[in-house]
Amino acid sequence: METLVVDHPLVAHKLTTLRNKDTDSSTFRRLADELVTLLAYEATRGVRVAPVDIVTPVAPTQGVRLTDPQPLIVPILRAGLGMLDGMIRLLPTAEVGFLGMVRNEETLEATTYAERLPADLSGRQCYVVDPMLATGGTLAAAIDFLVKRGADDITAVVLLAAPEGVAALEKELEGVDAPVRVVTAAMDEKLNEKGYIVPGLGDAGDRLYG
Ligand code: PRP
Repeated sequence: METLVVDHPLVAHKLTTLRNKDTDSSTFRRLADELVTLLAYEATRGVRVAPVDIVTPVAPTQGVRLTDPQPLIVPILRAGLGMLDGMIRLLPTAEVGFLGMVRNEETLEATTYAERLPADLSGRQCYVVDPMLATGGTLAAAIDFLVKRGADDITAVVLLAAPEGVAALEKELEGVDAPVRVVTAAMDEKLNEKGYIVPGLGDAGDRLYG
C-alpha cells in the first residue's frame, strides 16, 4: 500500500481552518469540498487515459481522454458524502457507488448498513472517499467490498489519517492483489483511547451534517 501526504501550503491552510473547533458547519462543508478538489488532483495522477486524435482551430494533434470503463467514486456514508462533489468536479464522467458504514463507538468495529455498488468492478479504478482514516476498520471493509467485486486499482482519498490506522490497513491488505493507495491531507499524531484522531478535527460526520 502506498500512502501519499499531500504537501501543499493551500492544503495546510484550509485544513487548519477545518480543524478549528470554532469553524461553523457551512464553512466546514465548503472547506472540505475545496480540500477534496486539491487532493483529487493528486489522487487521480494515475487515472487511465488513452490517446485521442483531435483537430484544434490551427492543426491536428493528439491528446488523451479517460478510458472506459469510467472510474468509480465511492463515498462512504455519511461523512464521505461531503467529499463527493469535489471528486465529481474533477471526474465528471465517473460513476458513483455508495457504501453506508458506521463505526460502533465502543468496539470501534465498522458495520455496513447500505451498499449500492455496480455488480462487476472488473478493470475499474475506484476512488473511495471518507474524511477520516482512524482505526482503518471502515476503509478495510470498504476495500474488501470493492476487491470482491473485481476492482483492480483502488485509491482512498481522506482528509486525515492516523498512523495506527494506516498500519492496520496495510496489515489487512496483505495478500490483496489490487494496488491500494491512500491520499491524505495530513498524517496526524495518534489515536486517542476513544479511537479519535489527535489532534484531528473531531467527528467529521457531525460537523458536516449535525
Ligand atoms: C467515521 C468516519 C469514517 C470512520 C473512520 O464515520 O467518517 O467512516 O468513522 O473510523 P475507522 O477508521 O476507525 O473505521 P462514522 O462511523 O462516525 O459515521 P458517519 O460518517 O455516519 O458519521
